[in-house]
Amino acid sequence: MIQLAIEAALEAGKYLKESVGKVLQVESKFGQETNLVTQIDKNAEEIIISKIRKKFPDHDFLAEESGSHNKESEYRWVIDPLDGTLNFTHGIPLFSVSIAVEKQGEIVAGVVYEPNLDELFTAEKGKGAFLNKKPIRVSKVDSLIESMMVTGFPYTIRDNPDNAVQHFVNLLMKVQGVRRLGSAAVDLCYVACGRFEGFWEVSLNAWDMAAGVLFIEEAGGRFTDFRGAPSSIYNKQILATNGLIHDKVVEVLQQGLSGKNVTSRS
Ligand code: IPD
Ligand code: CA
Ligand code: CA
Repeated sequence: MIQLAIEAALEAGKYLKESVGKVLQVESKFGQETNLVTQIDKNAEEIIISKIRKKFPDHDFLAEESGSHNKESEYRWVIDPLDGTLNFTHGIPLFSVSIAVEKQGEIVAGVVYEPNLDELFTAEKGKGAFLNKKPIRVSKVDSLIESMMVTGFPYTIRDNPDNAVQHFVNLLMKVQGVRRLGSAAVDLCYVACGRFEGFWEVSLNAWDMAAGVLFIEEAGGRFTDFRGAPSSIYNKQILATNGLIHDKVVEVLQQGLSGKNVTSRS
């Protein structure tokens, strides 16, 4: 299954890379004018699903553009065919394909492919995480002031769900820097390979994080909700770190949850 996921991600990634600048039609989704989908998102999803279905016709799928396929199966493939659609439509070369395999509710394999840098992240449960076949580990940084964090904002940010703006301001005041790359799957991969110390976002979907959270766990990191409690890909809130700074980030997030602003770095 991991081999098939890799082949599907590489094929879809190649298609996406070749399609930059060729977006013909952009539609908005769910009445949210900043939530875009292109024909290219849909075609990439079709490339992936048709490839997997040929080999595993009985498996279930949960994919961003076609939703839940609701098949009775032990296996479910959780797919985001293009993570970073806004970057893509602006010609910014940072987006990815994310594919995960869930077996009876547990993520057992994951692949994220970033075609512009040709970076392929892979993991299987209990077997470690890899970037272009080399093992990866989370960073060893243990203080917030030395931590580079990354986050993302949901398309509903204007409603400030879950005090998203407070969390952003609060972390910005405590850490070395905060980045917003525009692809949650890439954000998680970068935590897993030690480029960032941590990632948080108030509202993600299962397809954005399914593969990424397996990398975090397999690379020695920690993944919870904002209170530090064990979480799942079906819980919207996500905090993923190198483990060493986790409790310190939870402390800052707690303040944001109760609407408080942290106004200084001390
Ligand atoms: C989005 C990206 C972004 C995150 C958003 C996601 P999409 O996915 O992962 O980084 O901040 O919450 O919806 O729409 O580009 O597949
Ligand atoms: Ca996504
Ligand atoms: Ca997407």
